[in-house]
Amino acid sequence: MKIFTVLGLVGTAAAFATRPGLGSIGQKSLPSLNSRRSSSSTALCMKTIAVFGASGLTAAECVYQALKDGDKVVGLTRNPSKLVVPKGSGGADADKPISDPNLTLIAGDVKNPSDVAKVFETPIDGVIVALGGKTSDVGDTMLTDGTNNIIAAMKEKGVKRMAVVTSIGAGDSKDQAPFAFKLLMMTVMKKIFNDKNNQEKAVESSGLEYCIVRPGGLTVDPPTGVINVIEGEAGSIPRADVAQFCLEAVKDENFPYIGKCPCISSVGGTSWTKDRSKAARGQA
Ligand SMILES: NC(=O)c1ccc[n+]([C@@H]2O[C@H](COP(=O)([O-])OP(=O)(O)OC[C@H]3O[C@@H](n4cnc5c(N)ncnc54)[C@H](OP(=O)(O)O)[C@@H]3O)[C@@H](O)[C@H]2O)c1
Repeated sequence: MKIFTVLGLVGTAAAFATRPGLGSIGQKSLPSLNSRRSSSSTALCMKTIAVFGASGLTAAECVYQALKDGDKVVGLTRNPSKLVVPKGSGGADADKPISDPNLTLIAGDVKNPSDVAKVFETPIDGVIVALGGKTSDVGDTMLTDGTNNIIAAMKEKGVKRMAVVTSIGAGDSKDQAPFAFKLLMMTVMKKIFNDKNNQEKAVESSGLEYCIVRPGGLTVDPPTGVINVIEGEAGSIPRADVAQFCLEAVKDENFPYIGKCPCISSVGGTSWTKDRSKAARGQA
């Protein structure tokens, strides 16, 4: 069962409590996303979702879960062949190529406006941005430049809703990063965080209906179904759960974190779980 949990957000919890169909906060737990799906089918009807960075580990979860839900997906990535069924949600199918008539994959660079425009040749309902990579590979400003291109294309086509995956520690969440991670942010990850902070600023000033999703340490574990929105220090979270949150953000017209930058984790709020991404990418 999927549980949507809110920790330490009394104001936001109150906002949840006033929403029809959502039960009392109690342990600050909300009804399962599955039950929300069935009870608000109009809000969560089939959509066409654009996923930027589609071959990435979090993005692949977004693509896979959206297709499983019957949605259409248009994905942009430089290397479409890298897109495989994710380990987290994929079970026995993990690592197989994803082939689905509802999936359109475009080989392109998000820094190139004409590549971004190709995504929007299909009418898009919502956009998920899950771009990433080392600055030595992607450059110092890929996140910001690419996101600016996406925002411009969305405005041109009248697409309103976007979820953008950044990180715990970005923007005003700096103090929610565990100490060891903060040190990395100030040293080896300084350029990445500079780009992430500028990316967030671009999204916040876009005038669009955005949700900036700041996850704690990402894993490739199966979904826990528990997504804690935290004000304290980050824990870890499977990419599968991050994807679930992003999909809700773009599909649910009443999503409670629009115009907000929630930090999310599913395993505690104070730990940091070793990232197994390298193994998932076949690099270890
Ligand atoms: N690792 C952690 O613990 C952690 C914690 C919190 C937040 N985050 C952040 O969460 C986000 C997602 O992380 P992830 O590990 O799931 O991502 P990832 O596997 O590194 O995927 C990022 C994707 O972005 C695509 N990309 C890069 N440059 C591109 C370009 N110019 N045009 C189009 N696509 C491009 C890459 O695909 P191609 O190479 O095929 O283009 C890649 O597959 C990242 O921003 C990351 O920093 C990570």
